Amino acid sequence: MSEAAPTGFSSQDLFDFPDPYPLFAAFRQSTPVFLARSMQRDTWLVSRYDDVARVLRDNETFSSRANSQMQDVMGRSIIEMDGREHQKHRSIVQHAFHFKSIAPVEESMARTLDELIDRFAADGRANLVEAFTEPFPIRVVARIAGVPIEDFEQFKRWAIEIIGYVKDPERGLEASRRVKEFLLPLIAKRRVDPADDVLSRVCTGEVDGQRLSDEEIVSFMRLLLPAGAETTFRLIGSTLFALLSNPDALEEVRANRQLVGAAIEETLRWETPVLFVARETTVPVELSGVEIPAGAMVTPVIGSANRDETHFPDPDRWDLHRGADDHLSFGGGRHFCLGYHLAKLEARLAIETALDRLPNLRFDPERPSRILGLAFRSPKSLDVLFDPA
Ligand code: HEM
Repeated sequence: MSEAAPTGFSSQDLFDFPDPYPLFAAFRQSTPVFLARSMQRDTWLVSRYDDVARVLRDNETFSSRANSQMQDVMGRSIIEMDGREHQKHRSIVQHAFHFKSIAPVEESMARTLDELIDRFAADGRANLVEAFTEPFPIRVVARIAGVPIEDFEQFKRWAIEIIGYVKDPERGLEASRRVKEFLLPLIAKRRVDPADDVLSRVCTGEVDGQRLSDEEIVSFMRLLLPAGAETTFRLIGSTLFALLSNPDALEEVRANRQLVGAAIEETLRWETPVLFVARETTVPVELSGVEIPAGAMVTPVIGSANRDETHFPDPDRWDLHRGADDHLSFGGGRHFCLGYHLAKLEARLAIETALDRLPNLRFDPERPSRILGLAFRSPKSLDVLFDPA
């Protein structure tokens, strides 16, 4: 199929869409690669696992310059760079996200989780999204980035407004400006007095013997803050949702904490927080028998690839013992998520703390939870009951 088909999605769907998976299954079956009309620019939707994996891994044919669409609000950052430029910029910060570099912050993460739970452990009920899963990763990323922790509430609002640019461009741009105003004095300070944080690394790192400009540093931080804050909370919320929906698995995980990692991995496959990424073809290319011209937008649908029945049998079932770690939720190729160790560590500690501190944890039957969204997915709220401490 080569004619553009209207997708009919509104910008609100990006956040509130109930269940895109039957639609993805139909795409995989009948039109695995097709040109869809999108809100900004027509794009080739790619839905089968093998094709999505190929698009993600072949960074020469499928360029990340497609991400420059967000340049107005994000500035220019590694997410839209290709080749040597990308490699050089990424190498400045890569080390800070190595698991050995992340390990020392584990203790402070555990403390943060305990502090959050202390606020509601005696109540016997909570909305875990509001009280636990959302506030946690923003505190972690603020700390690792080197942004004062007392400003995290403000940062959380800016991060959400920046990511909500498609929904409300005015607000997104204003948040983007405010982040810059906020960061400039911190950058000036780190340039003369570096600390052990990501901000200091980007302030002192060099590309071809040149320090990054203030604008480049601000752009990187604008990417990093939402990337760290807006994704991991979704993973934690969806993992808790999956466990509470599967009480036998919940009991198994309670009894054997080694299984927390398996629960997180299967949730990444089953309900990936990020459903799409964007690419642009540099040359004409064929995928699943369909010709895509050079200079075309391509949307590999990670959420569909992760449910491809030819790769993951019975893909709609959340299965604690599936043992499949080749989902594509952190992308692939050169742009593979920088924060994946961090995200998995945060999720493991958060799930373990919830299981330790909230006995008899269960859904509140009066306030049902649902996983929603089309671009990003997770439970909007997670109302639970537990035995009060
Ligand atoms: C469950 C949580 C997360 C998911 C599902 C996720 C997903 C992704 C995906 C799919 C990409 C690839 C984008 C592309 O190919 O265009 C990516 C890249 C990236 N992620 Fe994550 N991410 C998560 C957590 C984090 C965290 C915690 C951080 C940092 C604090 C982070 C920082 C980044 C950065 C900087 C990139 C760009 C890498 C590059 O372009 O070279 N992510 N992420």
